[in-house]
Amino acid sequence: MKTNAVQLEGPGVEGISSVWRDVPEIGPGQVLLHMAGSCLNYHDAVVIWGFIPGIGYPRVPLSDGAGTVAEVGPGVDRVRVGDRVTPSFYPAWIEGPPRPEVKHPIPGEGIDGCCAQQIVVDAEHLVHSPSHLSDIETGTLACAGLTAWSAVVTNGRVARGQTVVIEGTGGVSLFAMQFAKAHGARVIATSSSDEKLERVGDLGADDGINYREHAEWSTAVLELTNGHGADIVVDVGGQGSLGQAVLATKMDGHVSIVGVLGGFGNAEVPVTIAMTRNTRLQGVTVGSRDDYDRMCRFMETEKIHPIISDTFPMADLGQAVNHLEQGRHFGKIAVSID
Ligand SMILES: NC(=O)c1ccc[n+]([C@@H]2O[C@H](COP(=O)([O-])OP(=O)(O)OC[C@H]3O[C@@H](n4cnc5c(N)ncnc54)[C@H](OP(=O)(O)O)[C@@H]3O)[C@@H](O)[C@H]2O)c1
Repeated sequence: MKTNAVQLEGPGVEGISSVWRDVPEIGPGQVLLHMAGSCLNYHDAVVIWGFIPGIGYPRVPLSDGAGTVAEVGPGVDRVRVGDRVTPSFYPAWIEGPPRPEVKHPIPGEGIDGCCAQQIVVDAEHLVHSPSHLSDIETGTLACAGLTAWSAVVTNGRVARGQTVVIEGTGGVSLFAMQFAKAHGARVIATSSSDEKLERVGDLGADDGINYREHAEWSTAVLELTNGHGADIVVDVGGQGSLGQAVLATKMDGHVSIVGVLGGFGNAEVPVTIAMTRNTRLQGVTVGSRDDYDRMCRFMETEKIHPIISDTFPMADLGQAVNHLEQGRHFGKIAVSID
């Protein structure tokens, strides 16, 4: 039996190809999944562009996915045939704090990912999909959703009445907004686009700042918070924005260092301000399977749906990458697998 998969044969969107390959065999502790949903993260685009060294080609791309258990191998008791499930981002990170040994491999980068009709994974990596979400929706959660959860909930410890700043309107930031709002926090959104600020306001953001018009956007955050600053800032920009994030944070506040959208170089941080305000700066790398499970159960209870602006069939993955590069998305870009 053959199954359809997308493969990277080399760097760049021109390296994306569609192939028919043998249905993988399952071993002890493994399951065969019929995939239905996936998504494109910025990280996946970086892999496809070939910016991450050491990718072995051919490689099935995309870290995230969702589908149904079609077959279980010997010794599997976490899931059953017919269960709707989603693999976690770091297969080796089951629980507890981050350790060097749990950070590799990453599906879609060091091992094959989710952009295939059928994949085989260890049952230990799986989390049950939120029951109120479709597979396309669930396929957008593993990387951006859990990163936002770690930034705002696990590390940021958001609480009712606090203020959370999100930068831009991409996947991580809109999940961060949803988790902050569901915990009773006020959200200040920033964006390069007034039109996107209007959309994010319709979805629940309390205030908006155009970071293109206000390069020193921390000043606007201070004005909106009576000079105190925000409790949590989710920094996805890195270079060019981390300094603003620190300036926008109140005393004893938390800055989650999540992304590098401003470039891969170093960021300038106002060290004296960070010190005198007792600011906590904490890097984030997605999270563990158990945290992923906690996030999925929270979304189920709160009936949170991911915000998806576009869905591309897996055959059009190259178009999805170009769409992301042009910044035309709002929230997540989903990928349907059929
Ligand atoms: N550390 C981790 O575990 C982890 C996990 C997931 C993602 N990330 C990283 O986090 C970043 C965001 O990921 P994502 O998946 O949310 O990306 P995304 O969906 O592609 O988000 C892109 C959006 O961010 C905004 N943006 C672009 N450049 C910016 C800048 N220099 N400063 C502030 N905002 C900017 C834009 O929003 P507007 O159009 O509204 O301006 C853009 O549409 C990426 O660097 C990604 O690699 C890290």
